[in-house]
Parts: sequence; C-alpha cells; structure tokens
Amino acid sequence: MAFQCPLPPTPVLETPRLVLRPPRMQDVPAIQRDFPDWELVKHLHAGIPWPYPADGAETNMRECLARLERGEACCWTITVKHGDNACIGRIELKPDLANQDMRGFWLARSHWGQGLMTEAADAVTSFAFQELGWPFLYLNNAVDNVRSHRIKEKQGATLIGVKPHAYVCGELMRETWLLTREDWLARRKYASSARPGEGRDPG
Ligand SMILES: CC(C)(COP(=O)(O)OP(=O)(O)OC[C@H]1O[C@@H](n2cnc3c(N)ncnc32)[C@H](O)[C@@H]1OP(=O)(O)O)[C@@H](O)C(=O)NCCC(=O)NCCS
Repeated sequence: MAFQCPLPPTPVLETPRLVLRPPRMQDVPAIQRDFPDWELVKHLHAGIPWPYPADGAETNMRECLARLERGEACCWTITVKHGDNACIGRIELKPDLANQDMRGFWLARSHWGQGLMTEAADAVTSFAFQELGWPFLYLNNAVDNVRSHRIKEKQGATLIGVKPHAYVCGELMRETWLLTREDWLARRKYASSARPGEGRDPG
C-alpha cells in the first residue's frame, strides 16, 4: 500500500549540520521561548492559537506525542549537530492527502537564512520516498511565504494549484505543490553524478 499506516517510529536522521530526533517533553521550554514570534507564525495555519498561550507548546507537544504513538505522523525536533541537543525547530511528515498537506516545518528565527531547513527538508523527503516508499508528497505554503516557497522550488516540486486558505494572519492564497518520488530521485542522481568543477568554463 502506498501510504501504509501506522507509520513506523520516528528515526534519528543526520544531515551535514543537523541531527533530527524524535520530539520529547523536555523540548517544551525552548519551543515556548522561540515559537511565539509573529514573523514565524503568521504564515502557519489558522488552527494555531494567537496570542500564543503560556501552555501552547506543552499542549502541542502532548498532541504531537499522541499522534506519534498512534502512528499518524513522523515528527522530528531539529537540533544542531555537535551542539547541546536543544530544539531549534520542528519538521513533520503525515499522509494527509485530503488536505494536500504532508510536510510542515518551522525554525527559530535566529537560525533562518543559512539553508538549514532545506537540509532538514531534504533528509525528511528522502525518508518519505526511500524508507516509507511514498510515491509523492503534496506540499503547500502561503504565497507570501517566500522562504518556504523557495524550499519547494529548490527540491524540484511542481506548483499545481493556488487557492484561498486561512492562516494565523488571515486569509491568503495558498500554493500547493507536488513532489514525486521519480522527480526527487532523478534530481538526486543528477546531483550526485555531477563532479566539482564539471561544466565550468576552464577559462
Ligand atoms: C520557512 C523557514 C523554515 C525557512 O527556513 P530557512 O532555514 O531560513 O530556509 P533556507 O535557508 O533553507 O532557505 C530559504 C530560501 O529562501 C530564500 N529567501 C529568504 N528570504 C527571501 C526573500 N525575502 N525573498 C526571496 N527569497 C528569500 C533564501 O535565500 C533561501 O533560498 P536560497 O537557498 O536559494 O538562497 C523559516 O523561515 C521559518 O521557520 N518560517 C516560519 C514558519 C513557516 O513559514 N513554515 C513553513 C510553513 S509552509
């Protein structure tokens, strides 16, 4: 079956700069400190309470751990490799075909703009296609969310639709993308076969 449930336990994934590990209650204080940031939440779905309550991170973490227990999602806490194992963000995979919403992520603002979420998203996407055997991912973002839009573009996803959606900041157009396993694997094969300097003008 293409999207079998329950999903397996969330594995630890490593990237050059990050370790993605299963979330735990000890992550709550860091999340409660970093997540209630308007620039971070404004383009997330309207179900997130705003103003963010004092127990928002704890409630969300309990719900997340319950989803993991039921095998409905794989969720990772993002940490810096060779760091203190502290949470700097989250990323999640879920087979939500009905809402065309299969991967979500956020990163603490102090870590933006270094390519870290592209790295995390690549690791989680490889896991979805190569370990879970999913044939495709539906992804989405608010049109104004240029950083998130760019991550989909960089991964080789195809924009398949735009329609209104309720976000924390109000109604905006939502872009929906399709990333197929074939396109992903072809892109990876091309990337790994390209050698440094290949294609450059020797001058
Ligand atoms: C979206 C988010 C995870 C991106 O994290 P990040 O680690 O900064 O992302 P990356 O550095 O890997 O990639 C961001 C890309 O956007 C580009 N970018 C950043 N600001 C930009 C701007 N104002 N205009 C155009 N592109 C921009 C970056 O240059 C980069 O692309 P590049 O590698 O081609 O240069 C982070 O901004 C975040 O947590 N946002 C709030 C939560 C959120 O929106 N989640 C996604 C919901 S769909």
